[in-house]
Amino acid sequence: MDAAARRVTVIGTGYLGATHAACMAELGYEVLGMDVDAEKVAALSAGRIPFYEPGLPELLAKQVAAGRLRFTTSYAEVAAFGAAGPGPAMHFLCVNTPQKKGEYAADLSYLEAVAEGLAPHLAEPALVVGKSTVPAGTAVRLGERFAALAPAGHDIEVAWNPEFLREGFAVEDTLRPDRLVIGVGSATAEAELRSLYAPLLGAGVPLVVTDLATAELVKAAANAFLSTKISFINAMAEVCEAAGGDVMALSEALSHDTRIGGRFLTPGLGFGGGCLPKDIRAFMARAGELGVDQALAFLREVDAINMRRRIRTVDLAREQCAGSFLGKRVAVWGAAFKPNTDDVRDSPALNVAAQIQLQGAQVTVYDPQANATATRIEPTLVFADSALEAADGAHVLLHLTEWTEFREIDPAVVGARVAAKHVVDGRNALDPDAWHRAGWTYRALGRQVR
Ligand SMILES: NC(=O)c1ccc[n+]([C@@H]2O[C@H](COP(=O)([O-])OP(=O)(O)OC[C@H]3O[C@@H](n4cnc5c(N)ncnc54)[C@H](O)[C@@H]3O)[C@@H](O)[C@H]2O)c1
Repeated sequence: MDAAARRVTVIGTGYLGATHAACMAELGYEVLGMDVDAEKVAALSAGRIPFYEPGLPELLAKQVAAGRLRFTTSYAEVAAFGAAGPGPAMHFLCVNTPQKKGEYAADLSYLEAVAEGLAPHLAEPALVVGKSTVPAGTAVRLGERFAALAPAGHDIEVAWNPEFLREGFAVEDTLRPDRLVIGVGSATAEAELRSLYAPLLGAGVPLVVTDLATAELVKAAANAFLSTKISFINAMAEVCEAAGGDVMALSEALSHDTRIGGRFLTPGLGFGGGCLPKDIRAFMARAGELGVDQALAFLREVDAINMRRRIRTVDLAREQCAGSFLGKRVAVWGAAFKPNTDDVRDSPALNVAAQIQLQGAQVTVYDPQANATATRIEPTLVFADSALEAADGAHVLLHLTEWTEFREIDPAVVGARVAAKHVVDGRNALDPDAWHRAGWTYRALGRQVR
């Protein structure tokens, strides 16, 4: 281990933290990851990622083997590790900030638990850098908490460095982000973070330095914009269905307008996952507390359009089953909230599968990576080992997560396995002509019946 290397700790080693820890080690720092989940820590220590993220297992194994990356469950060890390095310790906070039960607001209790667990061990100056997505004002409050609980008092400074990585591209997005945002309360904190990210800044990654509140707001605003763009095209899909239009052609035509662009403009089942839905709700809740709820009233509609997509998808499938799911077999391709991850948090695919099952169908699901995570959340659904096995005897087939694997399947081959050739393409990602030619009825959100 390089004795002169800067030391970084990462608290909370889930999708975000495990990636951040491995990538910081890749940049040459000595890294200690910490989590309260002892099983996760044991897996990571053995060089295993307890979830699916392309490229991360190789990076983690490499850094653990090189001795630059270790994991612990101990706050005392985190503090001691940081204090022993050159320069002030840098502790990254990557814990979850889910939606509060029964409310729109974010549950910040995991961050508060870190302050209570870590601060009493901090006797030396340190920079605590939040990466979790939080409502504006959290960093200041957390800073006060650390100052009150740490022996080092106000020598513990809190900065915010929101994270924009996408699951499925997490390593790439961390090592080659399209921008870095740091919210700081002092020139020292800015200098520390500039020095930490020097390898990325040297490679041309743009850096935006802000105050704490703005950094927190950038993340909320980015997610609000992305979810609005998705719900915009999905609202157009609703209108297309009613007007006899085709939302895919409409989307393509819009995408050639460079002011609009084609990213996040594919109509379909809408967004889900551990970020967008809870983040736009937390943003609305915070705006309400700040007395500017009207400014974000449109996000309520964005959320409503998104949720209607799930209901409409169930409706399309029921129509294919002659109006009732009772006694019908339904095949669902996809369970993850999007391709290239096994994350099923607030997954539209899984939500649709569960709704159809509740309405009396026997639903068989297949996902290339998320069968295991989905089984834990929806144990009453049947999970198949392949896309074709899921299709066996089905009266309708739903394509709900756009894995490449599904696009590559020959509709004629699937046709030989099902009881009736009805497909609902919830992601507008299959080739309607190919399915139609193979004798299928093709239905998709925002398009006319084929
Ligand atoms: N997953 C993403 O793609 C992504 C992208 C950008 C931002 N974020 C944000 O990052 C944060 C984390 O998201 P995630 O998806 O990694 O969540 P996650 O649930 O996968 O990971 C959170 C981890 O924190 C651990 N933890 C909880 N309390 C702890 C404590 N007191 N001390 C130490 N560890 C603790 C949990 O055990 C878990 O392993 C959230 O605020 C999220 O909104 C996530």
